[in-house]
Amino acid sequence: MPLVTSKEILLTALENHFAVGAFNANNMEQVQAIVEAAEEERAPVILQVSQGAIRYAGLEFAASMVKTAASLVTVPVVLHLDHGYDFEQNVLCLRAGFTSLMYDGSKKPFEENVAITKKVVEIAHIAGIPVEAELGRVAQSTDKLSYEEICALMTDPHQAKEFIELTGADSLAVACGSVHAMKVQEAELDIDRLKAIHEQIPHIPLVLHGSSGVKTESFLEAIQHGICKINVATYLNQAFTRGLREAVAKYPDEVDPRKFLAVSREYVKEAVREKIRLFGSAGVIDSRGGFRSPARQFRSVEIGAAE
Ligand code: G3H
Ligand code: ZN
Repeated sequence: MPLVTSKEILLTALENHFAVGAFNANNMEQVQAIVEAAEEERAPVILQVSQGAIRYAGLEFAASMVKTAASLVTVPVVLHLDHGYDFEQNVLCLRAGFTSLMYDGSKKPFEENVAITKKVVEIAHIAGIPVEAELGRVAQSTDKLSYEEICALMTDPHQAKEFIELTGADSLAVACGSVHAMKVQEAELDIDRLKAIHEQIPHIPLVLHGSSGVKTESFLEAIQHGICKINVATYLNQAFTRGLREAVAKYPDEVDPRKFLAVSREYVKEAVREKIRLFGSAGVIDSRGGFRSPARQFRSVEIGAAE
């Protein structure tokens, strides 16, 4: 089916206490693995590309791969810009047919973050495309921050309310204890903070970044308190490279890259399936592409048509 926006699937997730997996992809095998797992699990899925992925694959190439993959399946697929660090990147993605955007001004002062987010929201909403923003900052594991430093970057619940009122953003990435690119699952989320944020902005879907390092129990609690979109990148990269390493070791004389990449694709697919089941989004989509319960039918987006 054609791409859908993230607006309706995240609001449905919020109402029904499940989270939609937002999986990062950089190449064809990852795109195929993500969309195939979602189709088999009857789950809505967000396929996201970062600015790094756009530099690697090219904007048009990345967008075309995802559009093609979506056209071959009967579950809703969203094409999302992950961590768009500037206004220009958001405009370019809007033009390329992305159905969900992110402006990440989390490294900027509050006022500047508000001003640029607002500008992105205004232009995206003209085209009917929702925008994720970030307040507080989810750090990188390479920043090597102390626990106290991570806490200092967490989202302030009252500021979150003000931020949403000022910007009109459709969803909010919050910092509540996760860190990007962790290779072991040992981070515990600050659930009390999450509850407080959710209480301040109960109608706004919250987004969890840096999920590869988060403990399973923390996910389950977070989904009960407003987390509707969970971003997964490192965990899938680990699966991809594990498959590659094993295949190269198993077939040392093989020169056909397909022999290796097919194994990687299968490993990524299983990792995506595992996360979809954990997030509670497996089985929510019926055979026609609508939500099973409540009975809602997706509208596909026409780029340029206001919602
Ligand atoms: O935006 C992408 C995600 O936050 C991915 O984080 O690499 O820790 O899974 P991760
Ligand atoms: Zn992130």
